Amino acid sequence: MSSTLKFLRALSDPTRLRIISLLEKDELSVNELQEITRMGQSRISTHLGLLQDSGLVQSRRDGKRTFYKLETAGNGGTAEVLRLAGKGARELAEHPSDQINLKRILHRRLEQAQVYFNQVAGRFDRVYGPGRSWQAFAHLLLRILPPIVVADLGAGEGLLSELLARRCKKVIAVDNSEKIVAFGAAKAKKNHLKNLEFRQGDLQTPPIENETVDLVILSQALHHAEEPGKALSAAFRILKPGGQVMILDLARHTFEQAHQLYGDRWLGFAESELHEWLEQAGFKKIEISVVAREEQPPHFETVLASGQK
Ligand SMILES: C[S@@+](CC[C@H](N)C(=O)[O-])C[C@H]1O[C@@H](n2cnc3c(N)ncnc32)[C@H](O)[C@@H]1O
Repeated sequence: MSSTLKFLRALSDPTRLRIISLLEKDELSVNELQEITRMGQSRISTHLGLLQDSGLVQSRRDGKRTFYKLETAGNGGTAEVLRLAGKGARELAEHPSDQINLKRILHRRLEQAQVYFNQVAGRFDRVYGPGRSWQAFAHLLLRILPPIVVADLGAGEGLLSELLARRCKKVIAVDNSEKIVAFGAAKAKKNHLKNLEFRQGDLQTPPIENETVDLVILSQALHHAEEPGKALSAAFRILKPGGQVMILDLARHTFEQAHQLYGDRWLGFAESELHEWLEQAGFKKIEISVVAREEQPPHFETVLASGQK
């Protein structure tokens, strides 16, 4: 059948005119069309099939639902036919009630989207949100980083080093555990991170040349050092002029079991202690603040300290 005949056939039924007119505002599912027109599902589906066949309507699947909308990519003929259909629909007795029902359905749709967020307002940051994670946020923030050279001291298996390596020019991950270094290096290789180099060594005497890195990170590592002040002096030594040190560690706490449970040498640090060591090492523009507090006892707090060479 020619497209002209298909168009004429599509326009020959008032129900199809009603459907075309309803789809002028927005795409609609079969259920929604059913609710608006108060017609049965099979009737609606038959008409939609015919409209699709004529090239006036197209569909898209969204999970188990199918949405229908007017064809917009067609030639001028399609637009003209749709305009005529809309005009014809407005002359039908059902048109006013169709439009009222359509408005109601579209309003309900909008409300449904807002209901969830209204319900969780005030605790949204703490509830689960699909796809929302600190890891994803970290990737976003990493994009802001320039291509710098980083030393991650007490790097562990390289959780942070790996993230950084995806963006930085080079990351040197230092750890004194032979096993951890071997594991981290193998993982970096598996992940094709050629710019991430693991080196075995002590964070108080890192095996890194003087003035070769832009950023030194000590994440939950400083409390393992025998002499934290010495580690910060070493950080100063390996930093280029203008480079930054960043420390994430626990605020001073009284959870004694941390010695046995996590092998911690220090029970966190007072902000004043960190400040003094950073100053003694030669750092300027020192900033220290608590950035996180755990909800579970013993309510560990995380301190972020930074300084510039
Ligand atoms: C709590 S983990 C932190 C790992 C990593 N920075 C992170 O935030 O996920 C501490 C790491 O420091 C390492 N470490 C402990 N004492 C060290 C030292 N004196 N020199 C170098 N690494 C040390 C441990 O082997 C361990 O991998």
